[in-house]
Amino acid sequence: MLSVEGLEAGYGGARVLSGVSVEVGDGRLTCVMGRNGVGKTTLLNTIMGVVPATGGSVTFEGGPVTGLRPDERVRLGMGYVPQGHDAFPQLSVMGNLMVTLEASPHKDATAVDDALEVFPRLKPLLKRPAGFLSGGRQRQLAMARALVTRPRLLILDEPTEGIQPSIIIEIEDAIERLHASGLAMLLVEQYLDLALRLADDFVILDAGRVVRSGTAEELRGEDVHRLLAV
Ligand SMILES: Nc1ncnc2c1ncn2[C@@H]1O[C@H](COP(=O)(O)OP(=O)(O)O)[C@@H](O)[C@H]1O
Ligand SMILES: [Mg+2]
Repeated sequence: MLSVEGLEAGYGGARVLSGVSVEVGDGRLTCVMGRNGVGKTTLLNTIMGVVPATGGSVTFEGGPVTGLRPDERVRLGMGYVPQGHDAFPQLSVMGNLMVTLEASPHKDATAVDDALEVFPRLKPLLKRPAGFLSGGRQRQLAMARALVTRPRLLILDEPTEGIQPSIIIEIEDAIERLHASGLAMLLVEQYLDLALRLADDFVILDAGRVVRSGTAEELRGEDVHRLLAV
């Protein structure tokens, strides 16, 4: 589904990622973990083409995407919810979903209904300006927007960060249901408990390199707290 090999990227002269390889199998959920500043967001941004790769390759469903623009990758079926990116604040909730639908390759309005089924708490809020929603609801809206494009891979950067606990539970539940429905996912998640509950496979980054990877069962037996401790 997604194959990342030897990825290198950075900002100006500063290299952040050094030879990072990550796989997401069909219908699998791969979790990327690591302390603050190790390069998790840079990895996702490079996978999406927001940050240019200076080496290595990204292959999606068997085709190379390393040279494509971010919007071209979205059109191919790579959905992305960037860290802390929530919604267009002036547009209504429905407006946010419609903008995404209009930009999506399929233009099938049932995708909006399907996305709202995943986050039913948004339904009574459709006419509200998104900027008036709580942070948690805005995060759900951002995820719903990504789903409107009907991705075959959903890439999420810390979807529960800074969100109130009751909504974290809803977001976790949505991730579990999407995964159970067969959607492949690449998830950056800081909380080990959540990662262990959701993930099939994991990658731990430290200073821009993969220091551990394997299945979630393998992770349970490891001294991961040491690698993730702040
Ligand atoms: N836009 C940027 N310009 C310059 N340096 C950046 C930029 N974004 C991130 N960095 C640096 O890259 C490193 C990795 O950051 P990031 O990928 O955001 O890590 P993480 O998501 O794991 O917290 C950090 O040292 C950070 O300061
Ligand atoms: Mg980050």
